[in-house]
Amino acid sequence: MGEGLLSGRAAAGQRGSGLASPTELLFGDAGLVRRGGGLYLDGVSLTDIAREVGTPAYVYNAEAIRGRYRSLDGALASLPHRICFAVKANSNLAILRILKDLGAGVDIVSAGEMARALAAGFAPEQIVFSGVGKTADELRSAVRTGVGHLNVESREELELVGSIAEAEAVQVRVGIRVNPDVTTDTHPYISTGKSGIKFGVPTDQVIPAAEYILGHPRLELTTLAMHLGSQLVDTEPFRQGIGRLIDLVEGLRRAGITTLRVLDIGGGLGIRYTDERSMEPAEFAKAVVPLLAPTALKVYLEPGRFLVGSAGVLLTRVLYRKHSGGKEFVVVDAGMNDLVRPSHYQAYHEIVELEERGRPSGRADVVGPVCETGDFLALDRTLPGLEAGDALAVLGAGAYGFVMASNYNSRPRPPEVIVEGAKWWVAREREKVEDLFATEKLSP
Ligand SMILES: Cc1ncc(COP(=O)(O)O)c(C=O)c1O
Repeated sequence: MGEGLLSGRAAAGQRGSGLASPTELLFGDAGLVRRGGGLYLDGVSLTDIAREVGTPAYVYNAEAIRGRYRSLDGALASLPHRICFAVKANSNLAILRILKDLGAGVDIVSAGEMARALAAGFAPEQIVFSGVGKTADELRSAVRTGVGHLNVESREELELVGSIAEAEAVQVRVGIRVNPDVTTDTHPYISTGKSGIKFGVPTDQVIPAAEYILGHPRLELTTLAMHLGSQLVDTEPFRQGIGRLIDLVEGLRRAGITTLRVLDIGGGLGIRYTDERSMEPAEFAKAVVPLLAPTALKVYLEPGRFLVGSAGVLLTRVLYRKHSGGKEFVVVDAGMNDLVRPSHYQAYHEIVELEERGRPSGRADVVGPVCETGDFLALDRTLPGLEAGDALAVLGAGAYGFVMASNYNSRPRPPEVIVEGAKWWVAREREKVEDLFATEKLSP
């Protein structure tokens, strides 16, 4: 599942398709091709990009993102639906624009993400505002902007929305994010639909919350929502969660609440990081459409990782090799500040050479320059023989990659590059060292 698989394929689940090798499948998902020993993303040589923009650098394949969107959109064609991209997965404006042009909406969790979505050209109505800890300022700003709806996560937040709606004298469309108490087989840090965690309104509090909305002159309940967790490759949790939402829809209808228009089933569709299964749109649709169609509600989804995760790579370069304590280390120029997923979630990311050199392979830890033992991209990984100067691509880095990057160790964040067919362009420049302390003062 990409989480908890640091040392590789032995622990991974079954392969998604019969004949293709894991690397072929990963390459196919990303739009990567080997040509003359070199690695190409769509029509562009990654060696050229690494040389021209330097490393580390994130590179995204626009056409791969479009392909993912269309595959999900097509699989759900029989349902009235809207795919709201979860901006948290990758908030680069150019990525948002690609998805906007395909007809997507967005799912946001902060005023910062709202500003990005608006800057990328999304209409307020296409924005869903989720998140367990929205501030009063963020809620006010969303109400003034007129976002599509606000998914509230607690009674106190709901009452705050009510008072803001009154003060602003505007009607506000509200969704209740339900905690459906569904167990998911993913990393605990990204399992979000189980009882006892901070997200969502427990099912027994939903009808009282709906009645509060019904009795409020400025609020309208349009949506019931859930988000079960991230990197889900099994449809069963979705079936369970949707079942619980539908029970609540029926309960609300019995209570005379007839304003519901949307069932928001969240994101979480998982991708392939190694040779495990990924969530296939056709399989997903087969599981959820028969449950959702009879509700006659519009279905919203909030996928992030599924749309962009496979489409991105992180380019890095080998700085040194060292042998210590009986182990081999490959020290590269990308660290946990650039891609935190391996150290934070024990996530597995495939690492391949940009230029195949045919050197004998061996096992090594791929580690970054940051002063933490937890700073690694791969542990005990079989890799081709590498030397200082070799460039590498870390696959599956399009989601929760750059967005989780930090300046730890005063390291500027990498640039973000978009590949469009045979062309590429820098969608975000590499941060400069001066940017890091531009707002700091030496004294009062
Ligand atoms: C409310 C909500 N929606 C959607 C997502 C996107 O999840 P994913 O990238 O796994 O699709 C998240 C991720 O945390 C979320 O919290």
